[in-house]
Amino acid sequence: MKDGKKKGGHRKPPATRRTSRKKEIVSNAPGKISGASGERAAIVLAAGQGKRMKSKWAKVLHPLAGVPMLFYVLDLVKRVEIQRTFVIVGHQAEQVSEAVSSSGVTCLLQDPPLGTGHAVLQAKKALEDFSGSVLILSGDTPLLRRETVQRLWEVHQKERATMTLLTTRLANPYGYGRILRKKNGAIARIVEEKDATPAERSIQEINTGVYIIEAPFLFDGLGEVRPNNQQKEYYLTDLIGIAARRGERLAGAAADPDEVIGVNSRADLATAEGTLRKRIAARWMAEGVTILDPVRVRIDASVEIGRDVVIHPGVALEGNTKIGEDCVLHACRIEDSRLGERVVVKDYSVIEKSEIDADASIGPFAHLRPGTVLRKGAKVGNFVEIKKSELGEGSKANHLSYLGDAVVGKGVNIGAGTITCNYDGEKKYQTIIEDEVFIGSDTQLVAPVRVGAGALIAAGSTITRDVPPEALAISRVRQENKEGWARKRKTKKT
Ligand code: UD1
Ligand code: CA
Repeated sequence: MKDGKKKGGHRKPPATRRTSRKKEIVSNAPGKISGASGERAAIVLAAGQGKRMKSKWAKVLHPLAGVPMLFYVLDLVKRVEIQRTFVIVGHQAEQVSEAVSSSGVTCLLQDPPLGTGHAVLQAKKALEDFSGSVLILSGDTPLLRRETVQRLWEVHQKERATMTLLTTRLANPYGYGRILRKKNGAIARIVEEKDATPAERSIQEINTGVYIIEAPFLFDGLGEVRPNNQQKEYYLTDLIGIAARRGERLAGAAADPDEVIGVNSRADLATAEGTLRKRIAARWMAEGVTILDPVRVRIDASVEIGRDVVIHPGVALEGNTKIGEDCVLHACRIEDSRLGERVVVKDYSVIEKSEIDADASIGPFAHLRPGTVLRKGAKVGNFVEIKKSELGEGSKANHLSYLGDAVVGKGVNIGAGTITCNYDGEKKYQTIIEDEVFIGSDTQLVAPVRVGAGALIAAGSTITRDVPPEALAISRVRQENKEGWARKRKTKKT
């Protein structure tokens, strides 16, 4: 996954954001100065059940632009300077741990999950000897940008804060913890939606769930947190009130609302998906890709696209897909495939786990199933299905065909309606068609069978035996014409 180089979807220009940010930073001075050790750790919360998703899968593993939500957060952590990272797992701990196993983070079990404060406490032992700053992130906040986290560190350091939180203002703040401030503007505490009074619910400034907290205060303060709330949970957010009461330095930084959406429900997932898609499209446009309607394309975070590619509406590029320069893609779905340069994909084609060399042309209405290889300049047309087969350089299968388990050489013409009969009900067999073969329309090739180079197969043939090179194979009943037969039938009737 790559980070977008160009910022997309921001509502405010950077300059406005900078001034508004200044206003948001308010310290509860005087207070202790901490953060001296300079060491950094991260805790990613991913143990919650995600009840509102109504899913049998762990919330943090639901994909966004084809990649599990949690991976975005881990990727972000990797790209900011952090010495130790812990992921708190609980609900479906095994699946979540398994999913993150390759990323080199340490998973800590929270069993049972008793709230976000309780989740962070699971790292207390692992960070016993640690006196630096802890970045806390949620596995369900995947759109957060590295630049924003870096800015949070800057504020934390500049303000010499014990705790710095990332906040934002939402037109509809429903579901989020609200930031309560004192008359002088200093942060006083956070109240969760379920515990808030109607007046508190009208506050639009919310907690994004992203914090930097000095470790000694973090674990000491969490000892004071009690589950005295509607949800009977240990809230991490209670720490803000505790810090304020203890006179610790509290700072805040503002984020763009678009990047701090917490995914709690399927509707949130769709919103986050939309924002991410726009961001991905913006990134590729900045890299020199033409996208005619950025709202109507779906490009996974893992996809790579070359310059001067033209993407028409209705294109979906998924998984490990690479598109070479100058390709033209009309409405189609391409999954885990590689396309060379100048490939044209016409409307309503599906390409799965295939390798397409330069100058090939596909569709409309073609289905390339896993294991398809099209060599340079090959052409696959209307209603052609190909599976686990190679079509050699410049070869064509333009109409209504099925090629399965076939190796087709160069310059071959596969006539309309040609079928490789690769399956006898038990096993699959191979069809080999050598270079420069011409296969007439409506031919069945009963595999295993080989057609030698330069051979010609007459239309309507059922080929059950190998055809020698340069031969003509014909296997159909000789035509008989009965002179005047139709006329006679007509006269009989009258
Ligand atoms: C939380 C914040 C809220 C904030 C919002 C931002 C608290 C109490 N509330 O609310 O102020 O506005 O995030 O998105 O912190 N988790 C655990 N263990 C648990 C419970 C949760 O690891 O026992 C994890 C979840 O997997 C999730 C994250 O913590 O990744 C946040 O939990 P969630 O239940 O979604 O909190 P919110 O209600 O969204
Ligand atoms: Ca949440």
